[in-house]
Amino acid sequence: MIRLENLTKAFDTPAGTVIAADRINLDVADGEICVLLGPSGCGKTTTLKMINRLIEPTSGKIYIDGKDTDRQDPVELRRTIGYVIQQIGLFPNMTVEENICVVPKLLGWDLVKARARASELLATINLEPALFLKRYPKELSGGQQQRVGVARALAADPPVLLMDEPFGAIDPINREVIQDEFLKMHHRLKKTVMFVSHDIDEAVKMADKVAIFRAGKLEQFDSPDNILAHPVNDFIADFVGTDRTLKRLRLVKVESALHSAMPRVIPEDDLERATTLMNEHDHEFIVMVDAGGRPQGYVRRDACRGQQGTVGEYGTRLPATVSLDEDLRAAVSKMFMYDVPWLTCVDRDGLFAGVVTQRGITRLLGETYRDPAQRVV
Ligand SMILES: Nc1ncnc2c1ncn2[C@@H]1O[C@H](COP(=O)(O)OP(=O)(O)OP(=O)(O)O)[C@@H](O)[C@H]1O
Ligand SMILES: [Mg+2]
Repeated sequence: MIRLENLTKAFDTPAGTVIAADRINLDVADGEICVLLGPSGCGKTTTLKMINRLIEPTSGKIYIDGKDTDRQDPVELRRTIGYVIQQIGLFPNMTVEENICVVPKLLGWDLVKARARASELLATINLEPALFLKRYPKELSGGQQQRVGVARALAADPPVLLMDEPFGAIDPINREVIQDEFLKMHHRLKKTVMFVSHDIDEAVKMADKVAIFRAGKLEQFDSPDNILAHPVNDFIADFVGTDRTLKRLRLVKVESALHSAMPRVIPEDDLERATTLMNEHDHEFIVMVDAGGRPQGYVRRDACRGQQGTVGEYGTRLPATVSLDEDLRAAVSKMFMYDVPWLTCVDRDGLFAGVVTQRGITRLLGETYRDPAQRVV
């Protein structure tokens, strides 16, 4: 959907030429989110602005949906590309509603449709339409202005969206909420998105592809997991951080690390049965479920030793459970919190699905370092 070929921008300044973008090559497929990362001044904004021709490239090509953008009228082109600029850039003399309706009006939408769209978009970015539609930008906080900027870019439903640090000014809690909303919306609308961020965690969470720049050059363009697991050089490794393997936890669902072939007992079973099952499976514990299959607790092998009675009498409460669709970061966090080496997993209906273990998780993450041909994530 977006293809950059040898895209280059040289700015002439009194002090000499600045190469802001140096032969950038990358491809973003239809419906993908690509995040541009890198230190200040490395050329992210310049690259983004060349795509909608707010900056004319010095050389190289940009294709959108297979079409050479050189052959398109820049004004027409920009109407088909949503753009959130780095400094938000709402029109100060227009209300929130008027700001959002700018492009729809240019495209000739009728007013009722455009206003309905403005309301709908405000609701998606967690701003109550009744409270915000008629306000002016100066009556909003920085983060609220930023969200309106995102809504304005989405207004005319463009297939391509360029965003320059769209969530930068929003506090961490609201940022998570807005990122989640954005991902949900993206899942529904499947736009091709290229956005600039300073935040590797944001990139890992949001991106299908990450492009890391240094001094105008694209250093690595890859999936978030490959960037974290296999940085191509020391610069990328430093940039993503020494905790890069921990960051990968966020990319893997509990389901991927699940041991599903786990035996189980019910409270009425006797200890002998529990011990036999643990012996057969070579486990130190066994999970106890109720008649409906919901986890109730567990018994340890050493608690059964030399005892007579039912599993229910000797069972221990589970400190926590984790759902299959949570990420491994959440699972590991619970393991640390409760100081346990394993956790019971439940499916969407709350039924026992198996366990995840610390060993299983370290093995899963470690596998990619041992043999790149056998990656599991
Ligand atoms: N109009 C211009 N004239 C001259 N140099 C420019 C111009 N615009 C940008 N530059 C230079 O090009 C380089 C890249 O700038 P750019 O705005 O693309 O950086 P960035 O990666 O977006 O940085 P930041 O994270 O700080 O926003 C910088 O060195 C900048 O000073
Ligand atoms: Mg910038």
